[in-house]
Amino acid sequence: MAEGHYFEDNPSVPSKVRQVPLKLKDLSMELDVDRGVFSGMKIDDGTQVLLVEAAKPGKAKTILDVGCGYGPIACAVARRAPAAKVWAVDVNARARDLCAANAKKHHLDISVHAPEDMPADQQFDLIVSNPPIRIGKKNLHPLLELWLDRLAPGGRAELVVHKHLGSDSLQRWLIEQGWPTTRLISRAGYRILVVKPRPERLKPSNAADDQTE
Ligand SMILES: C[S@@+](CC[C@H](N)C(=O)[O-])C[C@H]1O[C@@H](n2cnc3c(N)ncnc32)[C@H](O)[C@@H]1O
Repeated sequence: MAEGHYFEDNPSVPSKVRQVPLKLKDLSMELDVDRGVFSGMKIDDGTQVLLVEAAKPGKAKTILDVGCGYGPIACAVARRAPAAKVWAVDVNARARDLCAANAKKHHLDISVHAPEDMPADQQFDLIVSNPPIRIGKKNLHPLLELWLDRLAPGGRAELVVHKHLGSDSLQRWLIEQGWPTTRLISRAGYRILVVKPRPERLKPSNAADDQTE
């Protein structure tokens, strides 16, 4: 593919910044996007479904957007929960720069990091994500495992996945791994999966303890 993948660490395609509108009932903002990042022409349909149907932080105090891209989800939740601490991670450096710039442009407090630069002990009341399904299960499963085991007790994750990209098999895998997972809604082929923390004894770091029980 001439332009590479949107999930490259450093996209080689020349930059060409443009603006896209993010319009929801409760908020409206213009966001900078670029070539070499996911959905660089408009808000992704799955992202729009997630923001309309879910991503409502309520009392969540710590929120994480996994695979933030240029930041539509992180910016929306930061606007909806101004008192919350919002974190955003992405492997793509250009996406991170855009997310940080969009947050600044809209006076939103979002901490944007490469995954390896996140504080290891930080937990989250809410994880929101349009996850990078196209990286394949071999990479996606460890990625989800890493962040879903950082859900705080009583927290939840909301993941939007298209049925043609394996939302139902992903839901089955999550349940098999011990995360209580339900489908919140199905809209235009997109499912929103709601994932609750799994019991401590099912986390890999505690697997040895589990065998001795
Ligand atoms: C489907 S896109 C969603 C982007 C953005 N949240 C949106 O809604 O437009 C998934 C994002 O995950 C990022 N990504 C891929 N692998 C990742 C990883 N291992 N850790 C964090 N982010 C990753 C990609 O670079 C991409 O920006």
